[in-house]
Amino acid sequence: MKKVKTASAAKVFAYYKNFIRPLTFYAIVSYLLFAAAFACTEILRPYIVKYVIDGTIARTMTPLTAMLLFGLAALLYNLCFRAADYTIVSFESKMWKILYDGSIKNILKHSPLFFINHSDTGKLITRVRRYVISFETLFEEFTFRVSIMAIYAIGVTCVALATDYRLGLLLVLFIITFTVTTVTFFRRKMELEQLATEKESAVSGGISDIMMNVQTIKHYGRRNEEIERFGKKTTAYKDAEYKAQMFANHVRILKGSIVMVFDTLMVGLLCYLFNAHKISVGTMYLFFSYSFQISMAIWSLDEGLKKITKAIADAGELVDIFEHPDDLPDAENAVTGIAVASIKLENISFSYGGTKQVFENLSLDIPAGQKIGICGTTGSGKTTLANLILRTMDPSSGQIIIDEYSIRNHFSQDGLKNWISYVPQNIDMFNRTVMENIQFADPSASDDDVVSATKRARLHDFILTLPNKYDTLIGEKGLKLSGGQRQRIGIARALLRNTPILILDEATSALDVMTEWEILDILNKEFVGKTVIVIAHRLSTIRNMDRILVLEDGKIAEDGDHLSLMELKGKYFDFIRAQNTGGSHAAAVKENNLVH
Ligand SMILES: Nc1ncnc2c1ncn2[C@@H]1O[C@H](COP(=O)(O)OP(=O)(O)O)[C@@H](O)[C@H]1O
Ligand SMILES: [Mg+2]
Repeated sequence: MKKVKTASAAKVFAYYKNFIRPLTFYAIVSYLLFAAAFACTEILRPYIVKYVIDGTIARTMTPLTAMLLFGLAALLYNLCFRAADYTIVSFESKMWKILYDGSIKNILKHSPLFFINHSDTGKLITRVRRYVISFETLFEEFTFRVSIMAIYAIGVTCVALATDYRLGLLLVLFIITFTVTTVTFFRRKMELEQLATEKESAVSGGISDIMMNVQTIKHYGRRNEEIERFGKKTTAYKDAEYKAQMFANHVRILKGSIVMVFDTLMVGLLCYLFNAHKISVGTMYLFFSYSFQISMAIWSLDEGLKKITKAIADAGELVDIFEHPDDLPDAENAVTGIAVASIKLENISFSYGGTKQVFENLSLDIPAGQKIGICGTTGSGKTTLANLILRTMDPSSGQIIIDEYSIRNHFSQDGLKNWISYVPQNIDMFNRTVMENIQFADPSASDDDVVSATKRARLHDFILTLPNKYDTLIGEKGLKLSGGQRQRIGIARALLRNTPILILDEATSALDVMTEWEILDILNKEFVGKTVIVIAHRLSTIRNMDRILVLEDGKIAEDGDHLSLMELKGKYFDFIRAQNTGGSHAAAVKENNLVH
């Protein structure tokens, strides 16, 4: 399995840094409070114990002084810890909001084509969640693990050096050896673990492959072959897992040996210094305590490094999406209003990638106010044509002009949509009420405006039968609507907006013929003087349009009104005949070719 290449750690940190900026104060205060609390409990407390032991042995310290010292230290670290709790909660909860908001903002800036190519929304949702969780992991690993180690390393070494230079040197030597050993073997350990994970997912893949094809395996009597094939995958997983775990064991032996040698040397040195009257009993206690704690703290350094590496890789997957180049930059001086909506395509060429050109030097002139119908076989480019006018993507050459303005140079993305209503075949619903779903098209529309639009879209009576009428929740988590009902919502949205241009892409295909005719009639009346493009599979839909285009393989094969195209006895004529007769084999073949 190939490793997914994600954004570099520097990029990941640059984004987090930008997001964290408004909360820098909270972040620093939380961190400092926590560090102070930790230094108090782990460095200062053993020191006070030493002081009390020595004072008690020398009979110079009263129990009251000992209590006072302990009480004050406890008060100090309790205050720091609890204050840190408050600031950390405050910081992290604010950070969640910033990270979620920022992620959605950075994702939504992309072009519609980006979402067509990244249509797996489940993956995107996982990436956003991981991005936020990764921040928590990084913040907590750095605060609670890496910096604790640093505080230990610096704090304890300073105390040791101030007590006796030999103790200090031994500690420094231990910290360096232990850290270098951990970091050196970390990379190899990660590689082996990664390999084991890959083999494990091959096993999971194998299980699902078998389960999904279980009937086929039975039909062909291939049970033993499949068991053998699966066995190879589990063997590979077993070997990889064994290797990774054994390597981890070896590293543990090495680390354990270093700690053992260090502890033994430390005891020897402490006893030697005590016998030589260089240190007190309290100091002996202090260093026993420090050396135990410091080993504990850096023992799990590789665990921390692993979590940090994974968090950076996870976050990198979303940063990749943030960094995706903007393929549809907005025009700088965007036009804010157009008077008449003629549409002109000048020598358009377009390809989705690969060798297939969808359009090559296509030109088309639609005068303002024309009602134009487009038909053609599947894949002839009808939807692509609509998307180019909507600027879902830019043509590779040529330009599209609305009124007198090129859409690439004179409209902002959102601005262009103020002049065009697009109703596709499949209308997705938000998990909101019917009212909100329609009002989405024009947030300034009143409830009465919505009701008026639904009446004209022949939707009002249906909505009144819903459990909560206009307040009924629809969408994934609410009431499911039929294809035809969804299409009527799409039409109601278009009616609410009443833009100079309307494009329907198979938008009435799920309605019965009578309702379709009724709705098209209403649209034609409402959109009088406006430019309407109707893409349709059912030819009766576009029969009465001012002009009809037959698109074939990205080219305009025929262009005229119904009567002239019938007289031509070409493609359109054949299509009409096929749809009317329906019975003969040839007609059925043609009919089947004529789908969206
Ligand atoms: N997102 C896409 N990525 C790659 N190719 C596409 C994409 N959408 C459409 N195509 C291809 O472009 C051509 C035109 O498709 P389309 O405009 O959807 O045709 P129509 O709407 O007339 O059925 C077809 O060959 C189709 O396979
Ligand atoms: Mg289509």
